[in-house]
Order: sequence, then C-alpha cells, then structure tokens
Amino acid sequence: MDNRPIGIFDSGIGGTSIWREIQALLPNESIIYLADSSNAPYGEKSKAEILKLSIKNTEYLLKQNCKLIVVACNTATTNAIDYLRESYNVPFIGIEPAIKPAALQSKSKIVGVLATKGTLSSSLFHSTAENHANGIKIIERVGRGLVPLIEKGEVKGDKIIKLLLSFLNPMLEEGMDYLVLGCTHYPYLIPVLKEILPPGIQIIDSGEAVAKQTKAILEEHRVLNTLNVLGKHHFFTNAEKKVLENMVQNNAISTSVEYLNF
Ligand code: DGL
Repeated sequence: MDNRPIGIFDSGIGGTSIWREIQALLPNESIIYLADSSNAPYGEKSKAEILKLSIKNTEYLLKQNCKLIVVACNTATTNAIDYLRESYNVPFIGIEPAIKPAALQSKSKIVGVLATKGTLSSSLFHSTAENHANGIKIIERVGRGLVPLIEKGEVKGDKIIKLLLSFLNPMLEEGMDYLVLGCTHYPYLIPVLKEILPPGIQIIDSGEAVAKQTKAILEEHRVLNTLNVLGKHHFFTNAEKKVLENMVQNNAISTSVEYLNF
C-alpha cells in the first residue's frame, strides 16, 4: 500500500488523454499532472532539448514525492525514456505509437502513423516499426501544426480539417485501413477524424494500454494505493490554464488546475 501520487507529464494538455484512462482504471490513485505548455510543441525540438525538458519535468515530479512517472508524450518517450530510466530510481511508463496492434489487425497491410517529427525521427520509433511491422507498409506523416491548435482548444473546424486531410489523403490513396495516433494530443481529434475518414478505417491510440501497464507496474512494485478512497488530481500548467481546465473538469472527482512557473 502506497498513497504517494503518480506523476504524469506531457509537453502540454495532450497527456490528459492518458490521464483519463489511468484515472478510470485506477480511481484510488492520486495524480500530479504537469503540462509543459509554454514549451510545446516538443515535436519540433532537438533530441537534446527534449531530453532537457523531460529531466526538468521528472525532477519536479520527484520533488513532489511521486512513486511512478508516466511520460504521457510519445515525443518525450521516444527521445528520453532510456535516459530517465537509467538516471532515476522510480519506475517510468512511456507511450509509443501503437504500431504492433495495427500491424496485426490490418487487412490491407498498409498502416498510417500520424505523429510528431521528434517521434518519427527517433531511433526507438524505428526499431519498434522494424520489429512489429514485418510485411506491413507503414506510411508516416508529421502532424505539423496540429499540436499548437489543440493547445489552444481548437479540436474541430475548417483549419483542423484542412490540415488533417492534407496528412490523411495520401495515406488513404495508398490503401491504409488502420490509422495510428502517435501523439497524445491527437485523441482529442477522434470525433473530427471519424467525420472525415471513410467508414471502415480504424483509429488506434495507446491510452488504454498505457493505463493497463501502469497498473501492472504498480502491482509489480507493490505500490498500489489500496485505500478505498477516490484519488485527488492536481494539474499544473506553465501557460494559460483555461483549456486545461475545460479538458479535465469532472464533477465526479476532485481536480484542481493551477498555474506554476516550472
Ligand atoms: N503530446 C506529445 C506527443 O505525444 C507531444 C506533442 C508536441 O509537443 O509536439 O508526442
């Protein structure tokens, strides 16, 4: 039994799509969430910059006595998680584009991956793609421009649709039947994606798998919070807090959103 909080960080508000899954699966756990929105998007930064920001976020969460850290950002995971695991003495859970389930289920054997430049150019992404996509054609596209819009709370409308179609049309022309969302901001686009994609195209993201993995690792380390009380959820952002507030407001659970200059 361990009632210390779980720490979660992302370059911004996207990781709340992961927080949602973790909160649903592990309602007793308290969570501290860091949205590093003043430095978003991470996806256009160098590996060294992404590493530096990931270290800053991790050290803040460790100062808050977190028992486990979820790197709720594909870009930070693929560029920094090896270093974090070697350097700090807590378990880390990362997130990577879910190529494996898409590759296993695709009938056309053509899978689209929409992710950031930082993720798609990482060696971790490439080794995962090579290991799991035997006989599968992977079409990668950088979703440039999506994260800044989502950070502003823009998850639908002409601008988003135009951008998405410019990424998706070439994938559709090649015969993609599975689309992997390789950025934790993108699940907020699922409603609009469902409107613009032809029927039969499956959308996959890794949120649920990350929550299950978080539970498994807490169990393995014997640090689950077994108190039968709902956890508390503290969100910190170093930018305007309104969009984050809208995303995590929930009458059923205790959430607070604060500005913090971290
Ligand atoms: N949400 C992040 C990801 O999963 C990063 C987006 C960004 O800051 O570029 O990759």
